[in-house]
Amino acid sequence: MLGYTLLPLFLLGLLSPNLFHLVSSQATVPRELFSPLAPQKVLATYKASPSLQWPQYTDGSGRWLFFPPRTWTSGFFPATLYALNTRRQLCGATDANQLGIADWVALGRAKSRGLPLDAGGIGHDVGFISFPFVEELVVNPQNQTAKASINSLASALAARFDGKVGCTRSWDASDPTDFQVIIDNMMNLEVLFVSANLTGNQDLKKIAISHALTTMKNHIRPDGSSWHVVEYNQTTGKVIRKRTAQGYSDSSTWARGQAWGIYGFANMHRLTGNPDFLSTSRRMANYFLDHLPQDGVVPWDFQAPLNPPPRPADSSAAALVSNALLLLAQQETDAGAKKQWTDAAIRILNSITRLAWKPQWQSLLSNGTVNWPANNYLTGIVYGDYYYIKAANELIKNNIVTCEGQWTQSRILGVGIGL
Ligand SMILES: *[C@@H]1O[C@H](CO)[C@@H](O)[C@H](O)[C@H]1NC(C)=O
Ligand SMILES: *[C@@H]1O[C@H](CO)[C@@H](O)[C@H](O)[C@H]1NC(C)=O
Ligand SMILES: *[C@@H]1O[C@H](CO)[C@@H](O)[C@H](O)[C@H]1NC(C)=O
Ligand SMILES: *[C@@H]1O[C@H](CO)[C@@H](O)[C@H](O)[C@H]1NC(C)=O
Repeated sequence: MLGYTLLPLFLLGLLSPNLFHLVSSQATVPRELFSPLAPQKVLATYKASPSLQWPQYTDGSGRWLFFPPRTWTSGFFPATLYALNTRRQLCGATDANQLGIADWVALGRAKSRGLPLDAGGIGHDVGFISFPFVEELVVNPQNQTAKASINSLASALAARFDGKVGCTRSWDASDPTDFQVIIDNMMNLEVLFVSANLTGNQDLKKIAISHALTTMKNHIRPDGSSWHVVEYNQTTGKVIRKRTAQGYSDSSTWARGQAWGIYGFANMHRLTGNPDFLSTSRRMANYFLDHLPQDGVVPWDFQAPLNPPPRPADSSAAALVSNALLLLAQQETDAGAKKQWTDAAIRILNSITRLAWKPQWQSLLSNGTVNWPANNYLTGIVYGDYYYIKAANELIKNNIVTCEGQWTQSRILGVGIGL
């Protein structure tokens, strides 16, 4: 019997340079993921948000700051409202979960009005802006306004594609031949597939696939880490520079960018079935997990100095990577691989909840790093809260936990078989 338990642990130890991969199988799911504070705070934020302004991040005491529509993050708050509708559909409304306190679809629709439908001021981030419209089609597949919005946003992204470079342009530069692409752009490709479905325009899919293949080639280092920015010369199509914008240094790995990549490539595998996208997502995920500190708290950049402590965390990267790992787990067919990624997601959710769950703040989480080089950190962040709520939805949808945060029967059996 001893051999049964020790041998696999020993073998796993050889495969994984970091204990993080090992110790998570008995973790419990944080109760806070299912807290009534989530719907209560989101409703309060809805009521506090001025017309045609959207929350992006908080000040240092947890009070939301609101921004005009042409901000890359404007879609996340309405998408959060739809995510609470999804939760209500999965779990029902009870006194304990407080999901019945609002008509989340009505609020999501109201907060979708006034979002930009072209790339002005937001560039490639039209993909993020499309999230609430894509959710609207889940609720009402016939909604012509939502369809037209998605098609408009997808056309705006497609118009930023250059065949010689093979990518859609992320950021505009003063020299138009300076063609800048950031790893975050992987998240904006899904809108091209959704619009291709609605319109039958297959070119949109080809653009997304070309962008992902080019990014796979140029943004990912041999060890699975990533550059934030790759600059191409639009005239020649050649890479002219690889650098950071929001990370610690050109050779470091900015944690949120790495998480966008894990999610983006897993999603491209879901949308195309190309195994290279799956293996890229895995390599990036392994880098992420192998470079986490023992406490599992996601730092804002993996190479940022530890001293003076504490090295600032990024709770938004933690919430995002949890979703990325759950999506990656869904793409795996092997039960052991599914379990490995799921356990890592849950351990990260535990660590970030312990550090950053803030009942007194307007946001759910503190300890977000919006932009460290711009001295904007120790805040709540709208996409951190969005991905925190979405992570719980995914755990419930995939039958990993119940709406009360208990392991499902199949999961308990899975743990027994896995180790
Ligand atoms: C359709 O979607 C739009 C955009 O999200 C929303 O403003 C509108 O209320 C929806 N209309 C209906 C009838 O569902
Ligand atoms: C791109 O290459 C062209 C032709 O060699 C050159 O004129 C232009 O300055 C280059 N642009 C950048 C951003 O390097
Ligand atoms: C495209 O449509 C098919 C068939 O309705 C659906 O299964 C798939 O999820 C859609 N894909 C996207 C990206 O919307
Ligand atoms: C988390 O945020 C608190 C303030 O809300 C700060 O004191 C602490 O140093 C932060 N910890 C990390 C690891 O970022």
